[in-house]
Parts: sequence; structure tokens; C-alpha cells
Amino acid sequence: MSASSERRYDHEEYKETADWLLSRTDIRPKIAIICGSGLGGLANLLENKIALPYTSIPLFPHSTVQGHTGQLVFGELNGKQCVCMQGRFHFYEGYNMATVTYPIRVFHLMGVETLIVTNAAGGLNRSFKVGDIMVIKDHINMPGFAGQSPLCGHNDERFGVRFPCMSDAYDKNLTQLAREVAREQGCSSFIQEGVYCMVAGPCYETIAECKALLTLGADAVGMSTVPEVVVARHCGLSVLGLSLITNKAVMDYDSHEKANHEEVLETTRLRANDLQRLVSQLVTRL
Ligand SMILES: *[C@@H]1O[C@H](CO)[C@@H](O)[C@H](O)[C@H]1NC(C)=O
Ligand SMILES: *[C@@H]1O[C@H](CO)[C@@H](O)[C@H](O)[C@H]1NC(C)=O
Repeated sequence: MSASSERRYDHEEYKETADWLLSRTDIRPKIAIICGSGLGGLANLLENKIALPYTSIPLFPHSTVQGHTGQLVFGELNGKQCVCMQGRFHFYEGYNMATVTYPIRVFHLMGVETLIVTNAAGGLNRSFKVGDIMVIKDHINMPGFAGQSPLCGHNDERFGVRFPCMSDAYDKNLTQLAREVAREQGCSSFIQEGVYCMVAGPCYETIAECKALLTLGADAVGMSTVPEVVVARHCGLSVLGLSLITNKAVMDYDSHEKANHEEVLETTRLRANDLQRLVSQLVTRL
């Protein structure tokens, strides 16, 4: 195993990053938003903003994937103080789960209480259409099944309990609020609700894998979100998850369609504004 896969952080390290960030801004966010692939535009809606590149933040990991910028943006969204992650860390980039989820505990130590996660996902549910927004009601943690949980190893009780509950991972009130706001904004026709399944990637799924995941009860599949949610719930944050359905998983051996990153980015561009508007209205109502 490489050194990076064994990297662990202690409370003092998360604290060092949190204190450094708080010393750089007067913003005291209660809400953190993780912008998924191509959804970084959300951070541009912030007012009185200050952007801090990941490379400038002590102990912070750096992000490498196409479509992600790699900075923390502090500011106000409709008067609510927020921090946005423009670019997240993926397991497939070679980070271990402790590094993927590093920012979450930093947010917690900064006083954040609510986490809004967004991502781009493939639609498994046959009634989902490209461009739908899925409110995540639950998840399936495939890397967790394979022994890759960010909570493996020594448990620091200052963050949370050894065996955290995950049956209430996605806050019902926030889920309800998301549906309400979507209705008010005339987005009802493309709002779905469902189960997000995380796979490690970076390969897109085979046809057999898609069929298997569908059978397991997943409605959408992607390569992020779940580790962040697990760590957020462990330290007591309320979570709302939103998936933009950017492509339909191929489940037919006669199909000539192929999953590709360009299609994902293209759909994201088309629907990004709706998703940003939804999140921005939601934040106002928190
Ligand atoms: C798929 O989505 C539809 C519409 O949101 C939902 O009613 C259904 O329960 C979902 N799951 C399956 C397996 O069809
Ligand atoms: C949801 O809202 C109800 C009514 O406002 C409140 O009593 C309850 O504590 C909330 N639940 C959570 C998980 O925040």
C-alpha cells in the first residue's frame, strides 16, 4: 500500500485548517454546499465572496478532475452565509477516503450545521430522463461493502460515535423542502426522488453491473457523495443530496450508446441553472 492510502488526520489537523479558514474571512457559514461536476457555477451566485484555492489552504487536498476548479468560496447566498466547495475529491483520483472527506470535518469545526451535496449521476430507473434532478432519499455504499469506509480505523469520539446510524442519512425535512421549492419554481416535471448508489469508478458501469445495481434498488449511480455524507452524519450535520441525471445507464446489449464524460458535462450545462436556482431558493428557506 502506498503512503497516501494510509494517510489519516487527527483532530488537531482538521482544527488547524478550520482556524486558518476562519482567520481569512468574517463569514461564519452554517451551510456548506459541495458543487458536483459542472455545477461549480453555484458558487458564482454568492455575494461578498472570497475564494480560497485549495492549494493555498493548509493541509487541504487538491483536485484534479476536468470540470472542477478547486477552491473554497465563502459568501452570502440570498443573505445566508455559506461555504461552497468548487471541486471535490474523488476516490478514483487516488485519494483515500479520509482525504476525500477531509473538508467535511473542517466544515463541522467551523460551525457548519447543514451540508448540501450535489453530483452528476447516471440514471438507472427507467422512468428517469436525462436532465431530471433526483432528490436523494437514501444511498447504497458499494465501496463500503468492499471495506472502503472513511470511518474505518480509530474513531475519534470528538467527531462522533463508533457505530453511527445511517438509516436517517438524508434529512426528511430538507427532502420535503426541496420538493416544495421545486414545485414553487415550476420544476416539478423533472424532479425525482430515489436511491443513489456509489461505485468507485473511474470506469463507467458495465451493462451487467447496471442491471445488478437496479436490482439492488438503486435509481442512480455515481462516483462520489456517499463518503462525504457518511462523515457528515457521523459528526451530526443535516444532509440534503441532489443528483443531476446526466445520462441514462445503458442496459441493453443491442444498444450502441456509450457512457462518456462529454455527454455528462453537456447535460450539466443545460440544466445547471435550474439546479442552482433550486439550491439558492432552498438555502433562503433554511
Ligand atoms: C423509479 O422512479 C419512479 C418515478 O419517480 C418511481 O415511482 C419508482 O418507484 C422508481 N423505482 C422503480 C424501480 O421503478
Ligand atoms: C422536522 O421538522 C419538524 C417540524 O418542524 C421538527 O419537529 C423535527 O425535529 C424536524 N426533524 C429534523 C430531523 O430536523
